[in-house]
Amino acid sequence: MSNEELRMQVTHPTGQYDVLVGANLLPRLRQLAGINGPLAVVTDSNVGPLYAGRIKDAACVITVPAGEQHKRLATIQTIYDELLAANFDRKGTIVALGGGVVGDMAGFAAATYMRGVSFVQCPTSLLAMVDASVGGKTGVDLPQGKNLVGAFRQPTAVLADITTLQTLPPEEFAAGMAEVIKHALIANPELLRRLETGDLRLTPGDQSLISDLQSLIADAIQVKRNVVQEDPFEQGRRAVLNLGHTFGHAVEQVSGYAIRHGEGVAMGLVAAANLSAQLGYCSPGLQRRIEAVLARLNLPTRIPSNLPPAALYRAMGSDKKKAAGKLRFVLLRDVGDVFVTDAVGETAVLATLEDVMDSA
Ligand SMILES: NC(=O)c1ccc[n+]([C@@H]2O[C@H](COP(=O)([O-])OP(=O)(O)OC[C@H]3O[C@@H](n4cnc5c(N)ncnc54)[C@H](O)[C@@H]3O)[C@@H](O)[C@H]2O)c1
Ligand SMILES: [Zn+2]
Repeated sequence: MSNEELRMQVTHPTGQYDVLVGANLLPRLRQLAGINGPLAVVTDSNVGPLYAGRIKDAACVITVPAGEQHKRLATIQTIYDELLAANFDRKGTIVALGGGVVGDMAGFAAATYMRGVSFVQCPTSLLAMVDASVGGKTGVDLPQGKNLVGAFRQPTAVLADITTLQTLPPEEFAAGMAEVIKHALIANPELLRRLETGDLRLTPGDQSLISDLQSLIADAIQVKRNVVQEDPFEQGRRAVLNLGHTFGHAVEQVSGYAIRHGEGVAMGLVAAANLSAQLGYCSPGLQRRIEAVLARLNLPTRIPSNLPPAALYRAMGSDKKKAAGKLRFVLLRDVGDVFVTDAVGETAVLATLEDVMDSA
């Protein structure tokens, strides 16, 4: 294997940036991202102690408490306070070092602090690498719902240092894999085959596995890159990235967030395939294939029976992703062939929810 990082370019309405995927990128951040001015690292209480030290000569390190419950405006205020205390100005660059929660908050701080400063994404969770760090969406949650306040803000660079994945808890790794599977289903049949057969662990010192994971992550990023390039402000095609998410968000919400996002997405992918087959868009075999790959990657394939279909259906209606009052689903014709529709009736959705419910 080569120790070279893989590099992809993302173009957006006001420029372009590179996404780098490789080992040991953090110590070379300035050089790889081409930054000269002061750096303010924003990280969380899990990731900071492990990796903030790998970023040399930061002007300040701002550590926020870990967890989605802290992705809110009050935390943004503490980031502003610490940036001001460090005399951080518009010549500086914010470095988001952590999972998607840190990336969304540091990006939102970068979009708004002094009307905008540069920022670099250094995702350390698999989910943040393949999904959250690319595409320029930033923001926080409100008590009324997730991601209700935010801004589009493009990073200067994205550095996915895969060596950081060695400390990611296994259930978080699995959750990220749900989004990798989603990306494979949206646009990369070959990636799906690799997920179905490949060895996807990250064993310290095993260079061949590191290189497998590196190219797998790069392939997953590429799917997102191609979609966001086509539709940077989510006015059309970008909605396909919500494959599995109409069901998944409902599962998360009705479970009181006891089910993590990636797990909800996993169940949602099964439901999307079930609904697609029920409506005659794809063969029933596709659902079984998706279930097999999810199970292989330690993800659930059934909605727990304590989440009633009627409650899930109601929760779908409160999702901000619905279009003009109608529920919107991403359906599959085949692997690599998905489409968005708002023409699915309640009966069909409820039948799918019954069908993918855990019968045990
Ligand atoms: N902006 C976007 O386009 C976009 C897309 C998808 C998701 N998101 C957001 O991303 C968030 C979810 O991201 P996430 O799954 O990364 O959650 P997260 O940031 O909460 O990280 C998950 C957990 O893993 C820990 N962690 C992260 N990297 C680690 C490492 N290398 N070693 C040890 N522990 C580590 C974190 O501290 C946290 O406890 C949600 O808020 C979601 O809304 C945003
Ligand atoms: Zn998601």
